[in-house]
Amino acid sequence: MTQRLRVGCVGTGFIAGKHLAALSAFDDVDIVAVADAVAPRAVAVAAEHDARSYADGQTLMDTEDLDAVWFCVPPFAHGVLEETAVRRGLPFFVEKPLAHDLATAERLALLIEDAGLTTAVGYHWRYLDLVDRARELVADRPPVLVSGFWLDGTPPVPWWVDRDRSGGQLVEQTTHVLDLARLLVGEVSEVVAAHVPAEDDEHVPLASTVSLRFRSGAVGGVSSARVLPSRHRVGLHLVGEGYALELTEAAIVDHRLTVTTAAGSVSERSLQDPIAAEDRAFLDAVAGRGDDVRSPYAEALRTHALACAAERPAS
Ligand SMILES: NC(=O)c1ccc[n+]([C@@H]2O[C@H](COP(=O)([O-])OP(=O)(O)OC[C@H]3O[C@@H](n4cnc5c(N)ncnc54)[C@H](O)[C@@H]3O)[C@@H](O)[C@H]2O)c1
Repeated sequence: MTQRLRVGCVGTGFIAGKHLAALSAFDDVDIVAVADAVAPRAVAVAAEHDARSYADGQTLMDTEDLDAVWFCVPPFAHGVLEETAVRRGLPFFVEKPLAHDLATAERLALLIEDAGLTTAVGYHWRYLDLVDRARELVADRPPVLVSGFWLDGTPPVPWWVDRDRSGGQLVEQTTHVLDLARLLVGEVSEVVAAHVPAEDDEHVPLASTVSLRFRSGAVGGVSSARVLPSRHRVGLHLVGEGYALELTEAAIVDHRLTVTTAAGSVSERSLQDPIAAEDRAFLDAVAGRGDDVRSPYAEALRTHALACAAERPAS
């Protein structure tokens, strides 16, 4: 019989809802407890899943006997949750970004490495079949030009616009595009960024451009803006010898890959659920049934360091 897995989730907002929906559809998973700093939120979500509720994640982890835990909290809330999981030897899935800053994530990465803990980070694009196809295409024809976009509105959650709590748009959103660029083009050797500051300097800049040079020799630019009525363009475009490739995300479950060559343009839309795919891969790793975590903490740290370097060029 397949081993049943007991899981908990800390944070019960937007993205937790996506993970809990995926987890509740797996027939080997029991959602036993959830926690949220806003206690009534946790109570309501717990009722949906026949689970127990807690007002903080540490108490949840100290009380429940879990196989794994999901951390779906805002960027500023990282640190003590991961430390508690490490102390208890509890594998965790954590949503990107790893933290609002680099120092917290670097400190946690050392603890996780010392403990040899199984972790996964929510860079969900890595689980898309379309991204696998893009990787095959660029494998023998490396891109020379990279253009990335996160052109969107300002998310309505209260913490987002506060630079010190969210980390900024590049750390909080564009990090997905930077991660995809690292995956498809390789490591970045040079970063130069320019920002259009908000009127209130404590707030996330209105727009940014980031110039990148890759170790492969490719060059590129990534544009971000938060002043639109809604999502306009989120994606990565690559140009290599004889092809242009465009990967875009209209919503978490709605991606498109368009490849243009001398033979014409071929476009493919995918409604694959990458949140369910990353959750399944992590659970299988925790259960010792699989080895397909595509963004463990140490790998995600490289993307986070790049996003932080672009976000705060002076620091
Ligand atoms: N992978 C993706 O595409 C994706 C999409 C959306 C959000 N996210 C990430 O998920 C994280 C959460 O985003 P969201 O949109 O769900 O935000 P949200 O504001 O909707 O939910 C966050 C929840 O965490 C709770 N919380 C805050 N601090 C806490 C703490 N210390 N302990 C317990 N609960 C706490 C809040 O009360 C809130 O209910 C962010 O880092 C965001 O970048 C990822």
